[in-house]
Amino acid sequence: MKDLMIRDSELLQKGKDKISWTRLNMPLLKKIGNEFANTKPFKGLKIGVSLHIEQKTAVLLLTLQKGGAEIVATGNLRTTQNDVALALNDYGIKVFGKREDTKDEHFENIRNVLRQRPTILLDNGADLIHFVVNETEFSTKGILGGTEETTSGGIRIREKMKGKITFPIIVVNDSPLKMIVENKHGVGQSIVESFSRISNLMIIGKKVTIFGYGWCGRGIAGYFKSFGAQVVVVETDSIRALEATVDGFLVMEAKKAIQWGKVIITATGRPDVIKSEYFDQMQDGVILANSGHFDWEIDVPALRSKAISTEKSLDSIEHFTLANGKKIILFCEGRMYNLEGVEAKGNTIETMDMGFTLQALSLQWVALGAKGLVNGAQAVPNEVNYETADLMLRSLS
Ligand SMILES: NC(=O)c1ccc[n+]([C@@H]2O[C@H](COP(=O)([O-])OP(=O)(O)OC[C@H]3O[C@@H](n4cnc5c(N)ncnc54)[C@H](O)[C@@H]3O)[C@@H](O)[C@H]2O)c1
Repeated sequence: MKDLMIRDSELLQKGKDKISWTRLNMPLLKKIGNEFANTKPFKGLKIGVSLHIEQKTAVLLLTLQKGGAEIVATGNLRTTQNDVALALNDYGIKVFGKREDTKDEHFENIRNVLRQRPTILLDNGADLIHFVVNETEFSTKGILGGTEETTSGGIRIREKMKGKITFPIIVVNDSPLKMIVENKHGVGQSIVESFSRISNLMIIGKKVTIFGYGWCGRGIAGYFKSFGAQVVVVETDSIRALEATVDGFLVMEAKKAIQWGKVIITATGRPDVIKSEYFDQMQDGVILANSGHFDWEIDVPALRSKAISTEKSLDSIEHFTLANGKKIILFCEGRMYNLEGVEAKGNTIETMDMGFTLQALSLQWVALGAKGLVNGAQAVPNEVNYETADLMLRSLS
């Protein structure tokens, strides 16, 4: 019991240390937080959050708290950092869940956030919005609106919940700033850095296949190339495939590219990209890793059923032996490995300072019921984009 308490207090201190280093390097949120402290745009409002609980998110939540918000939060599946969650609880932000939670426990955490009756939602992947719209236990009554952070959540809202959402949702991912700074450069650097941290392998000369040449894929391809990897791109959209070609990448059909790559990374936001029939065709020892939001891009259930044996070696690494004798290596069971893997750090601090400034200012628009907001999904207001771009330019000069 005493040991447990010592461990918890060490964990709490570690979480606080991570947050204070991060806060030091988020000048945009610092400025917005000082303004919020005077204007209190969220006074009397409760923000329900489902977003990776890690140190940059912590700084965003503390900024919203300065603006008068009461906050109840949970993470995305497997991306909660327990030390940061402990620190946030200590700072008066209620966090449900832990890194080890199963999918069912994660869904219960989402319900627990909604049971606190938030008036504003801050979502990442649209789990909160999905539950509030589709589960009879919850009601959309009293919800002023909210924001959605990522590509996959935006797709889910627009395709699966079209016409069902009775409050405005600003899709932060639609901002050109987020696409350029966060998805391209933040994810690009983070995916390469996390590959090294998990595997400790050399990148120069490595044959890397990237599925998807969207905003994340462009960054991932570019950063691997700049570290000396040979990069092949698979892209279903001809315009983007052409863009990859003129950017200097070799573009291949999926069937060929899965035989070529020694590392295969998915960044499409779509299900079943690495299909069951591909596994037997891959090179012995190939590494499969996903960077897309959901764990559905690599058909992991099919890989498990094809394997004659599996073995976990290091944290975040699992080996599968197929009947043909080849080994396939999978990072983080097919989930986002830059947010779940060894010592996961996610995107760089400055890129998230920019992305979360878009979040904070968009939430302020929702809280104040700004003119022009409509029910359902919409882009970040241009005023917010330009204000944030100017702030970041100044911080970099
Ligand atoms: N890991 C992270 O830190 C992180 C950060 C931001 C976004 N994301 C997630 O990354 C994913 C991609 O985001 P994005 O902003 O690049 O999206 P995007 O829509 O800009 O790009 C996706 C690309 O994949 C292509 N594509 C779709 N199906 C394909 C297939 N079967 N084969 C090859 N290409 C295919 C599309 O044509 C598109 O060009 C999303 O799930 C997003 O939520 C992850």
